[in-house]
Amino acid sequence: MHFPILRKYLMMDLKGRDFLSTGDFVRDELIELLDLAEDFKSSGHDERSLLGKSVALVFLNPSLRTRTSMEIAIHQLGGHAVTLDVGKSTWSLEHSEGMIMDSDKTEHIKEAARVLSRYAAGIGVRAFPEMQNYLEEIAEPIVRGFAKYSDAPVFNLESANHHPFQALADAMTIREKLSGFRGERVVLTWAYHPKPLPMAVPNSFALIAAQMGLDLTIACPPEYDLGDEAMEEIGRAASNSGGRIGASRDYRDACAGARIVYAKSWGSKLFYGQAEDDLACRQKHRDWIVDEDLMRTTDRGWFMHCLPVRRNVVVTDGVLDGPSNAAIDQAENRLHVQKAVLASLL
Ligand code: CP
Repeated sequence: MHFPILRKYLMMDLKGRDFLSTGDFVRDELIELLDLAEDFKSSGHDERSLLGKSVALVFLNPSLRTRTSMEIAIHQLGGHAVTLDVGKSTWSLEHSEGMIMDSDKTEHIKEAARVLSRYAAGIGVRAFPEMQNYLEEIAEPIVRGFAKYSDAPVFNLESANHHPFQALADAMTIREKLSGFRGERVVLTWAYHPKPLPMAVPNSFALIAAQMGLDLTIACPPEYDLGDEAMEEIGRAASNSGGRIGASRDYRDACAGARIVYAKSWGSKLFYGQAEDDLACRQKHRDWIVDEDLMRTTDRGWFMHCLPVRRNVVVTDGVLDGPSNAAIDQAENRLHVQKAVLASLL
């Protein structure tokens, strides 16, 4: 065995599994992945456990962090990344069943997934919702379609409901900043943004916070409550871990005394297919912004955000340029958790 860090984790045996949501993994498995990520980060060892292997990264949407950190993670593990920009450097993809494909889509994911899995040891897929049909899109037909038809493990690089690599990096960052997960008070607050965004990050953050047993308050205007399906899973995870999930309509009140303020904007499930209504609704909540006054009311609180972030819309310059900003550490931790997951599953 040439991989001393990985050898410590072989008892976990996650080989061959997909990574679509942290909800598919029990708490002990997630903790082991975080431990492995910390070992990668602190040791500087790369352990070329992907030597001779290739990973395909399929992007239907833009990315800075996910694309770069995945390509670098695969490189540092000795593997080779092939990135496909769907509809640009590769064919546009159809995913619906039974389609007569006589329109603009060139290839079905049934063929794409099966072909890519003949070449690559794993496939990463990013497919945001178009926010037109809530029930159809939260079924995540593209990412889950790839998982169904691929013979190799599939990694979710952000879908309608989940961004599991982001969530794992978020958990790693909280554990670093607070030296553990001892029921610390954490707030996930909705923030104003000029357009509706997917719910993957808030769903995934709330889920992993619940899995880790944190005391989480979700603050949002009434129109922006997370979906019932997501909240049921988050509630079950909190029951299993001894965590607590609360709700607030007053984000400043919720953040008072918190150790973590995680800001994120997201769209309303009420307005899928009616973007104009969402745009009109969110105008009423333009004051949902994280500023220095709010951070001063926290308990030495850290500001977190998955990035990209709109300065002076979601959060002020003063917070982003100040000492409580953990968002850059969060982004760095994407690299370490992705190496842990890739090394374990491939
Ligand atoms: N946080 C995140 O996933 O960033 P990108 O969209 O830039 O990949």
